[in-house]
Amino acid sequence: MSQARRRQRFQDVPAREPPPPPPPTTTTTPSVAVTPTHTIIERIDALFWRNSKNKKFTVAVLGAAGGIGQTLSLLLKQSPRIESLRLYDIAPITPGIAVDLSHINTESEVAGYVGPDQLRNALVGCDLVIIPAGIPRKPGMSRDDLFKINAGIVRDLTIGVAKYCPNALLNIISNPVNSTVPIAVEVLKKYNAFDPRKVLGVTKLDVMRAVTFVHGLRKDELQRLRSSVSDVTVPVVGGHAGETIIPLLSQMMPKLSKPFEGSELQNLTTRIQNAGTEVVDAKAGSGSATLSMALAAENMATSCLKGLAGESNVIECAYVSSNVIPELPFFASKVMLGVNGVEKVLELGTMTSFEERMIKNAIPDLRASIEKGVAFARSS
Ligand code: LMR
Repeated sequence: MSQARRRQRFQDVPAREPPPPPPPTTTTTPSVAVTPTHTIIERIDALFWRNSKNKKFTVAVLGAAGGIGQTLSLLLKQSPRIESLRLYDIAPITPGIAVDLSHINTESEVAGYVGPDQLRNALVGCDLVIIPAGIPRKPGMSRDDLFKINAGIVRDLTIGVAKYCPNALLNIISNPVNSTVPIAVEVLKKYNAFDPRKVLGVTKLDVMRAVTFVHGLRKDELQRLRSSVSDVTVPVVGGHAGETIIPLLSQMMPKLSKPFEGSELQNLTTRIQNAGTEVVDAKAGSGSATLSMALAAENMATSCLKGLAGESNVIECAYVSSNVIPELPFFASKVMLGVNGVEKVLELGTMTSFEERMIKNAIPDLRASIEKGVAFARSS
């Protein structure tokens, strides 16, 4: 038989079907468990908390249906420190978001509340209230351009806090933070519910950004020092807008053999100050930072809850009432958190002349933002 003929015959033979896979074996052993679900927050301290008899808290997110609010609520649903999570928004989807989150197998209860009529129920009994409500920036806008709309939103929500949970800690994310925190404070004063230890503007994202960018520039040395990005700390003080965001890079830990200086220092500082705008521009009209802001806010909330539970040495940067800068009633500084909220506002520490100059230059801008917030709250 010719070779060509043999090949032809071989191709005529239908390919033999591979044998079907064996059916899955069944077992009658009921003790074999499904792999447990896991949450994103699996930090060592969270695991410890889950197994301890520590106090658990009631937390409300006001503006829970927005980009920050939904992600923040997802993160908080995973917190073993929270027994009751209240989601409030004017958007009708809010109870649906709560139902969605309620299917996550963590211990906290979740409930959704819609509109001013339900604000009371959302707030009564809260230990911590977080406010991300409001509109975000579009390219070309400053945070102050949001004042017109967000100022009234923060005022109205803070009236709710003053009436229904005056002892709660307040974490304000809504921009312009440099003005919305003074607005909240004025509202609380009006209702005789102001305690300077309890109102904090969330600036944690500035710290996260500083750490991330510093790590990116000094990866090799940090690797040699066996420091991962989570070991790096950089205090960021001042406020939460443009040049009021002041990273104290000279106080970075761990100490580097070659500190930042010259154009590298200037460029790094500018990048940290403009990082929010970097996101706004990249999102091209669809909003500002939501995911990183949500994690920053969750970090801040967790630290506040740690403080409320009596843990020691809980230090964060936040924009708070203080006299660190005598000319300013509010300033972002390192704060020590405790059972009453901000137990101590820490000194700024030793700074370089570059850092001192940045603080001096930020004072007029901060003062104007504070006065604008105070005037708005007093006149409305
Ligand atoms: C941020 O820093 O990302 C936020 O304050 C949002 C913004 O408008 O930049």
